Amino acid sequence: MKNFWRFIFRKNLPSTSLCQMDFAVLGLGDSSYAKFNFVAKKLHRRLLQLGGSALLPMCLGDDQHELGPDAAIDPWLHDLWKKVLDLHPVPLDLGIIPTGIPLPSKFTLQFLEEAPVTHSEEQHVARMDPQDPPSELHPFLAPMVSNQRVTGPLHFQDVRLIEFDITGSGLSFTAGDVVLIQPKNIAPHVQQFCQLLGLDPDQCFTLQPREPGVPCPVQLPQPCSVRRLVSQYLDITSVPRRSFFELLACLSPHKLEREKLLEFSSAQGQEELCEYCSRPRRTVLEVLCDFPHTAGAIPPDYLLDLVPLIRPRAFSIASSLLAHPSRLQILVAVVQYQTRLKEPRRGLCSSWLASLDPGQGPVRVPLWVRPGSLTFPETPDTPVIMVGPGTGVAPFRATVQERVAQGQTRNFLFFGCRQRDQDFYWEPEWKELEKRGCLTLVTAFSREQEQKVYVQHRLRELGPLVWELLDHQGAYFYLAGNAKYMPVDVSEALMSIFQEEGGLSSPDAAAYLARLQRTLRFQTETWA
Ligand code: 2AM
Repeated sequence: MKNFWRFIFRKNLPSTSLCQMDFAVLGLGDSSYAKFNFVAKKLHRRLLQLGGSALLPMCLGDDQHELGPDAAIDPWLHDLWKKVLDLHPVPLDLGIIPTGIPLPSKFTLQFLEEAPVTHSEEQHVARMDPQDPPSELHPFLAPMVSNQRVTGPLHFQDVRLIEFDITGSGLSFTAGDVVLIQPKNIAPHVQQFCQLLGLDPDQCFTLQPREPGVPCPVQLPQPCSVRRLVSQYLDITSVPRRSFFELLACLSPHKLEREKLLEFSSAQGQEELCEYCSRPRRTVLEVLCDFPHTAGAIPPDYLLDLVPLIRPRAFSIASSLLAHPSRLQILVAVVQYQTRLKEPRRGLCSSWLASLDPGQGPVRVPLWVRPGSLTFPETPDTPVIMVGPGTGVAPFRATVQERVAQGQTRNFLFFGCRQRDQDFYWEPEWKELEKRGCLTLVTAFSREQEQKVYVQHRLRELGPLVWELLDHQGAYFYLAGNAKYMPVDVSEALMSIFQEEGGLSSPDAAAYLARLQRTLRFQTETWA
């Protein structure tokens, strides 16, 4: 993909390079991010520029779409096939897979008569070469040192400060880096899934791709037990997509269940499917409970076609090795919310992490690190302004610790939370740094008065200082936190400061911000 991208943006490509080419661009994105479908838009423009003809207007898939990401994509794909078949008629009805005859599975599972001696997780993921840093293929099984709730009892959210011991791991990181954690399903879910599908959790199997060259899931040991497959690989608490229902319909031996599944797979059934599944965030496991005859007849070969793999989750690292050698800390908001279903919805990784108690015995968590997108100035005098409400403050805790340890004292932190005594993370530490003259802390407590006070209000109040730091002292500005409205609100506050303090017109203020962004003096790390 990198090669393709580099090639397509080569400056010396003639503008007629693609004049023989028809193309169509489908982007997969999430409109809660500022650069929504950036790549698709850029690619579409470039292909046109090079003389290609667009078969269709570009389609921007959106994870935030009310009916789910497939909603915009389905009609587009329908039109696409129509166009392609008009242009290149082939004697095949590509649109219809005959029901009851699923495509072959990607893998075949060979069950073993006897359970072989399997490796423990420790042995299995052990690195071949201790020189290699831990990675997705060979994560480090980090002992959890502590797992402490840091929100007060009156706060709606359970937020954990979790510390890992990374002694001997070969892991190293700097401020702004990210840790990836590979979560697991909890034992009762694994048991329920195996029961529904009639699988013996202790049975072992080997896995072969049906077609050569199809890679097996990373880290999957051979042979592997069913228990390990289900607990560590299959994302059984994810919300299934339409393709799940399509395949399930093909596999179903039960007339009534099959009819319902076919309805959910059809274009007309999408509103109903959304009502049943995506809106209430029903999980794979819950859907299978509703279709027990089908669940019991799923051939194990199809498990990896049907259920998506558990993906690692990324967290901003909240500590610096300079302040906490051999330790890695993260701040985790435990995701839990209610839909119309009785059982509350829970985030897989955050709930799993919260459930681990190192006080009850050793706990190990598979993890590795990756460079983050935030980079910081190295010159000691360059001021750094950080805006991190809520758990958005996590990467800046690492930044402040690192900068202070390196003697960089020009740190300005804007922190927002609901109430001083409920969710003011690391208050004593900030106060101590303020006393030492290493930090200027500005707080916004949103629920301590009638009117909401947010970080952007504080920024505006301190407009002259912010302008002075940015325009005269070359400060770097960072923003981290929840992607919903905060990033836009903060950017607007900045632009109004540029207008009021710098006397810029509205378009000039926008251009000023864009320039800061281009020169990496305005950086954001936001999450949905
Ligand atoms: P609220 O929950 O009282 O609305 C951390 O979550 C802090 O960010 C909370 O004090 C929260 O306030 C606040 N917050 C919510 N929406 C925000 C926004 N659009 N901009 C800045 N802060 C916001």
